[in-house]
Amino acid sequence: MTEEDRGALAHAESLEDAESEPTLRPRRMDQYFGQDAVKESLRISIAAARAREEPLDHILIYGPPGLGKTTLAMILAQEMGVSIRVTAGPAIERTGDLASMLTTLQTGDILFIDEIHRLPRVVEELLYPALEDFALDIILGSGPQARDVRLRLNHFTLIGATTRYALISQPLRDRFGSTYRLDFYDEAALSQIVRRSAGVLSCVIDEDGVREIARRSRGTARVANRLLRRLRDYAQVEGEGVVTGSLAAAALEQLQIDAMGLDAMDRELLRVLIERFGGGPAGLETLAAAVSEEADTIMDVYEPHLLKIGFLQRTPRGRIATRFAYEHLGVELPRVRALGDTPQSPLFDVDAR
Ligand SMILES: Nc1ncnc2c1ncn2[C@@H]1O[C@H](COP(=O)(O)OP(=O)(O)OP(=O)(O)O)[C@@H](O)[C@H]1O
Ligand SMILES: [Mg+2]
Repeated sequence: MTEEDRGALAHAESLEDAESEPTLRPRRMDQYFGQDAVKESLRISIAAARAREEPLDHILIYGPPGLGKTTLAMILAQEMGVSIRVTAGPAIERTGDLASMLTTLQTGDILFIDEIHRLPRVVEELLYPALEDFALDIILGSGPQARDVRLRLNHFTLIGATTRYALISQPLRDRFGSTYRLDFYDEAALSQIVRRSAGVLSCVIDEDGVREIARRSRGTARVANRLLRRLRDYAQVEGEGVVTGSLAAAALEQLQIDAMGLDAMDRELLRVLIERFGGGPAGLETLAAAVSEEADTIMDVYEPHLLKIGFLQRTPRGRIATRFAYEHLGVELPRVRALGDTPQSPLFDVDAR
């Protein structure tokens, strides 16, 4: 996929979100299912901040796409009864952009910076004193007349979101009062999400239909909602308007989403890794080139779920397909162990079978 395609896809996805998500996006904490540990901890922070009539501490939220980072930030603003200003790392090109945003925030307001790992260096550095001392150090004028000025800012709350925790610099990490990692959803939470979304969309779905979607959503809320919308269309055209288990299974099959929720690209990745690279290890860039996909997309979108379900392993030498991947694709496991394989290798127990 070219950069342009990827942009178009991201755009289409955000359009998809923009058109139907304002209604699907939960607005209150009690509609935000799963992530219990995160919610519990946030509930305490909110209660404490409200009792002290103080703004929330800065919060960093990270995790794979579509798990609910943006949604959580919106809900936090709602629960605190404050305004939220939404922007993204790559959108803040100059220090002036950040300065003008920060100076308009009222006490308690939330500034949400999505993709915070993509903030330009100079902008990030301007953010440090703003987060720590609520001060903005700017230079007025230029040349010999230039002078440093320190502006006071209102006590705001920064919520940063990222899919790449590893790319956040230590000084920035240190300035967040709390950091939350969102994890993939289990079937029970996804079922709740699907039921609620079906209600919002006035889509009739039975429990088998709910389960079918929940199982095949790659543990991701956004995917569950997307599949539900597709199946609703399918039910309208091909069925009686009801998403049943068998209708869901047939439609998902047609969408090339298998019983584990893997799509064509997931399977292609595993197949290439197994057939062309003997199961690995293969480097990310090599794999990306072999499946004609951006390395970043593989790393952000595909890999986390494949790692989570144990089909893929990351080693210092590259990616390895585990025997679960072989079994899922119905490819016979290699009988000869590669030289240098250790008992830690996911294929080590092959000979013992
Ligand atoms: N806990 C949840 N309960 C119910 N619905 C959820 C939950 N989390 C996310 N969703 C749904 O999934 C959609 C995607 O979530 P969101 O946009 O917040 O993900 P994100 O983590 O910000 O993704 P990205 O990394 O792509 O920005 C939301 O619009 C919402 O409808
Ligand atoms: Mg988001």
